[in-house]
Amino acid sequence: MYRLLKACGDVYLPRIEHYLKALPFADPTGVRFAPSLGKAMRYSVEAKGKRLRPILTIMAYRLVADDWVRALPVAAAYELVHTYSLIHDDLPAMDDDDWRRGVPTNHKVFGEALAILAGDALLTEAFRLLAEEVDAKPEVIVRLTATLAKVAGRDGMVGGQVIDILSQGAGGDEESLSELLETLHRRKTGAMITGALLAGVDLAGGDRELRLRLEKFGMLIGLAFQVADDILDEVGDQESLGKDIGSDRELQKLTFVSLFGLDEAREKLFNLHREALMQIEPLGEKGLGLKALADYIVERDR
Ligand code: IPE
Ligand code: IPE
Ligand code: MG
Ligand code: MG
Ligand code: MG
Repeated sequence: MYRLLKACGDVYLPRIEHYLKALPFADPTGVRFAPSLGKAMRYSVEAKGKRLRPILTIMAYRLVADDWVRALPVAAAYELVHTYSLIHDDLPAMDDDDWRRGVPTNHKVFGEALAILAGDALLTEAFRLLAEEVDAKPEVIVRLTATLAKVAGRDGMVGGQVIDILSQGAGGDEESLSELLETLHRRKTGAMITGALLAGVDLAGGDRELRLRLEKFGMLIGLAFQVADDILDEVGDQESLGKDIGSDRELQKLTFVSLFGLDEAREKLFNLHREALMQIEPLGEKGLGLKALADYIVERDR
């Protein structure tokens, strides 16, 4: 990782990990069998994720205010929704993968039913965090809630996952497939990444101009993140990625690599990165953390 990003990560990451670890996933009623739900939730949350979305929330918050610890419950809410999306993404009915975050996938350890339910419970826990744990005015909490619902749901991640599944093996001319692919990536990955940034700005009380700028930046790095993910599925190293490779090819997924080939996908990544940096250039020194993250996204190997 880059030095600057590492410097931020050294500060934010331990607090994010600590916050996630302290979440009450155990079943307080002690009902027979129920503790396994908490175990299944904890298993995927505590596995080694990059925590990109919570870092984005905190970095966006810091563009406006300094007391970033206040952003932790919101940052964690994004990580919980993201983790649920990964558990469900790996299920046999979806990508049918065996490895995630360096360990066997949730359904391989706990079975499909508990993996589905652990995902459901992480999604709902995220909204509880927003409702109960965020120190902000009610109207701000309503806004944060609405944004998370939008970027995670039908018009965001879930909608993107539907296109991802339904477009498996899809035919058509390059132009219409390319349009479909961009919509797919914007929704399945770009939306949550953009939402994580907007949540930080909204909690900190940032203005409309900053919000619009980060919305554009978020979509560009979100798209770039998924293009890099598509490339890594083809040429990445399973061990450093901590998840299966070759799944996209096996399932005939519509990806930047399947449609344009590796070279063009890399060029697209390069262009998205450049456009993203243009968006945050006016932020000057304050934007250096986000710049380091954008650099990391295109150069990452995990
Ligand atoms: C993987 O996300 C799924 C995509 C949206 C491409 P990450 O690469 O952020 O996964 P973790 O959180 O580090 O495991
Ligand atoms: C999934 O995209 C994005 C999610 C919404 C979870 P992928 O299916 O490409 O993610 P990986 O490669 O399994 O992490
Ligand atoms: Mg998938
Ligand atoms: Mg997958
Ligand atoms: Mg992938």
